[in-house]
Amino acid sequence: MSAAAPVLEAESLRVAYGGNQALDLPRLALGAGELVGVVGANGAGKSTLVNALLGWSRGRPRVSGRVRLDGEDISALPTHERVRRGLLLVPEGGAVFARLTVTENLAASADRATGRAYTEDEVFALFPRLRERLHHTGGQLSGGERQMLAIARALRLGPRALVLDEPSIGLAPRLVVSVLETVRRLVDERGLSVLLVEQNVRAAIEVVDRLVLIERGRVLAEGPVAAMRDDPRIIQAYLGEGAA
Ligand SMILES: Nc1ncnc2c1ncn2[C@@H]1O[C@H](COP(=O)(O)OP(=O)(O)O)[C@@H](O)[C@H]1O
Ligand SMILES: [Mg+2]
Repeated sequence: MSAAAPVLEAESLRVAYGGNQALDLPRLALGAGELVGVVGANGAGKSTLVNALLGWSRGRPRVSGRVRLDGEDISALPTHERVRRGLLLVPEGGAVFARLTVTENLAASADRATGRAYTEDEVFALFPRLRERLHHTGGQLSGGERQMLAIARALRLGPRALVLDEPSIGLAPRLVVSVLETVRRLVDERGLSVLLVEQNVRAAIEVVDRLVLIERGRVLAEGPVAAMRDDPRIIQAYLGEGAA
């Protein structure tokens, strides 16, 4: 990675729901063409982080800190402005229109596409399965296909940074591998910058460059994946025998 400003950067990001401090993150940086995994158990604060990056929330949390996209402070911008600048989120479960067909779902994104947008052919080359399902509605797709369509929709908008919240959830193990490998290809072949949020540490560790482990809203450990693989905290909690 070069010394250029990170594509996405958070500083002193804190989120509290009432008296409950759900996130306290001194710094998180995503470099250009980097795939960073934020992992942690259920309730660790992963979605809270994702929502704070996007400037979105369920309920009424107190949020403080800075978020920068390509060096520009976007902390005060509403979600749709962050999205327009290329900070794209695929939320848990994948955002697709259940009543629209695959074609229509993709067209809905293309209408708002930027210069960074992937073409339809590029999207189908990444997810050939979607081409076979063109006339199926979002509601008729399997969990894996829905996740692919959600990522495809984000690509059609033209991401600067892509944030994926638990893309593996509810997917058969084989599909988890397939979806995450495609994400890796986007990084390797297209230089996309991706923040991958996952409870599935075992799967995430196979594709990311760096891993950030969070627990109760705080960073417990972080580093290049090669080192994190040998971290006793990761092994004990996630990789060892009898681990989650
Ligand atoms: N809208 C909300 N109101 C109150 N507490 C919340 C809300 N959303 C999340 N929390 C709390 O914040 C903590 C982190 O939740 P979350 O970010 O959803 O975890 P994860 O995505 O890692 O499973 C949990 O203790 C959760 O109960
Ligand atoms: Mg979550």
